[in-house]
Amino acid sequence: VEHQDITQINVELADKSYPIFIKEGLLDQSGALLKKINIKGKIFILTDSHVNAFYGDWLERVLQEAGFVTCRLVLPPGEPTKSFTTLPQIYQAMIDFKMTRQDTLLTLGGGVIGDLGGFAAATFLRGIPFIQMPTSLLAQVDSSVGGKVAVDLPAGKNLVGSFYQPKAVLIDPQLLQTLPERYLCDGMAEVIKYGCIKDPDLFSSLEKMVSGQILDNITPIIAACCRIKKVIVEVDERDSGQRLLLNFGHTLGHAIETAENYQGHSHGEAVAIGMYQITLISEEMGLTKAGIAARIRQLLEKFGLPTFWQVKGHKEELFKAISLDKKNFSNTLKVVLLKDIGESFIYDTDLGFFRRMA
Ligand SMILES: NC(=O)c1ccc[n+]([C@@H]2O[C@H](COP(=O)([O-])OP(=O)(O)OC[C@H]3O[C@@H](n4cnc5c(N)ncnc54)[C@H](O)[C@@H]3O)[C@@H](O)[C@H]2O)c1
Ligand SMILES: [Zn+2]
Repeated sequence: VEHQDITQINVELADKSYPIFIKEGLLDQSGALLKKINIKGKIFILTDSHVNAFYGDWLERVLQEAGFVTCRLVLPPGEPTKSFTTLPQIYQAMIDFKMTRQDTLLTLGGGVIGDLGGFAAATFLRGIPFIQMPTSLLAQVDSSVGGKVAVDLPAGKNLVGSFYQPKAVLIDPQLLQTLPERYLCDGMAEVIKYGCIKDPDLFSSLEKMVSGQILDNITPIIAACCRIKKVIVEVDERDSGQRLLLNFGHTLGHAIETAENYQGHSHGEAVAIGMYQITLISEEMGLTKAGIAARIRQLLEKFGLPTFWQVKGHKEELFKAISLDKKNFSNTLKVVLLKDIGESFIYDTDLGFFRRMA
């Protein structure tokens, strides 16, 4: 493998450490790269039918050319696939492929396939190695790094899960060329979030960028996001402190998604509204430097993201959803606020905070 031009970010978690590799065209080198990092045995590829149509045959050929024995399971696209009830089908396919703990599960897809496949890998035979090959922007900057794996129950999203780190994350930004625009915007909400909480340079570089040119500049942006997430995960692998900062805009965002029964705004759109609205409130309270909310709003809108939500009529549903959020203990509500772009902190408050929303 020509290694020099691959960006490598190591997530340091003692015996669970792993590299993130980022490079345009990495898909073509993935077989050789997996050999190089000592992946042995067979590879079970889990993907969805959208991603499979573009990259399934291609990836399987590249892995086989590197000498791997492979098989592929293609699932329907979309969140309903990330269900607890999908698991038996995956386990059965792995049994049919005669997988042992020396073999590897590779997830090729967005956050749905990554979370689902990661959970299957964590539990099959008490844990087999797994590799993330994220294909959506959200998965490349967020869900593939950090080891949170999960499936949904009818009672709610991500209710069954684990912390299970991959052996490596292989990111090929070129795969984003086929990602539908809507999902690109969704991922941009998380990218903007990283700028808000930790990286003023990332934020201002996005401010200078023309939205239509985002894919021409995406590789260093993905790397910047992965570096931020890496640092946060290293200090707080199991989500008890610092990692909460990644939740900027999410308390309100999740509540909007819940109040709309997941039929309305997408996750990124809901988080966009959350980031702006919460910053409006904190700015009014004097906790955030003046003018920050307006900058956030401008940036979000440039990338096609909403910043307003009709609270009228939904107000009580929204507050109920906020108070039921699993990240809120007892009566205090921990919200992530900004002092300035790139400077975030955790603020203890209560529902009254959100009641200030227009
Ligand atoms: N584990 C974590 O830390 C974490 C963090 C954030 C979100 N998540 C989870 O991630 C999931 C959402 O992820 P998502 O937004 O990637 O959704 P997704 O996996 O459903 O992908 C979005 C859509 O884009 C398609 N797609 C993906 N890559 C493509 C490509 N390169 N070309 C063409 N089509 C492509 C998919 O088929 C799908 O239709 C949620 O279940 C969420 O809970 C997990
Ligand atoms: Zn998110």
